[in-house]
Amino acid sequence: MKTLVLFESFFGNTEKIARAIGAALGSMDEDIVRISEFDIQRLEGVKLLIVGSPTRAFQASPDTKAFLRRIPSGGLKGKKIAAFDTRAEMTDRIPGFLKFMISIFGYAAEPIAKKLIKKGGTQVLEPAGFFVLESEGPLKDGELERAAEWAKTLI
Ligand SMILES: Cc1cc2nc3c(=O)[nH]c(=O)nc-3n(C[C@H](O)[C@H](O)[C@H](O)COP(=O)(O)O)c2cc1C
Repeated sequence: MKTLVLFESFFGNTEKIARAIGAALGSMDEDIVRISEFDIQRLEGVKLLIVGSPTRAFQASPDTKAFLRRIPSGGLKGKKIAAFDTRAEMTDRIPGFLKFMISIFGYAAEPIAKKLIKKGGTQVLEPAGFFVLESEGPLKDGELERAAEWAKTLI
């Protein structure tokens, strides 16, 4: 099955998760691609599309959203899809008002998945979020393994 893992990453954490997912699925390096460098023509022939973004202001990154808008209507018909994000772990260091905002506005993975479904894709994995300890990382211990496990539930 031809699988493509697209990611955006400012500090490298989402890229690490994307690569762990790609490795778990046996993807080639060239099929794990930064979303801003991805040529949309390459969607043809892809059977499984996985898209991941850092959560920024409760949403996917601008490049991720731009890519989702560029997918033609029905462009994911017959393709399997899944979405993930990275996000800040809810610790006591996060102020209460921000926790409240997060509880209302959420994270990036769910809206990415919804958009991929709207473009015709069939969701094959529930959206997943992987935790960073600080804004710039590192990833919380065990998240690379959890990402690989998430992807492997597909196999
Ligand atoms: C400007 C900015 C906004 C952010 N907004 C959120 C947010 O709304 N919710 C959240 O959980 N994390 C938020 N974060 C933390 C990011 O999710 C974290 O930087 C990201 O997961 C790191 O991934 P990357 O290294 O791939 O960029 C924000 C970080 C920055 C710098």
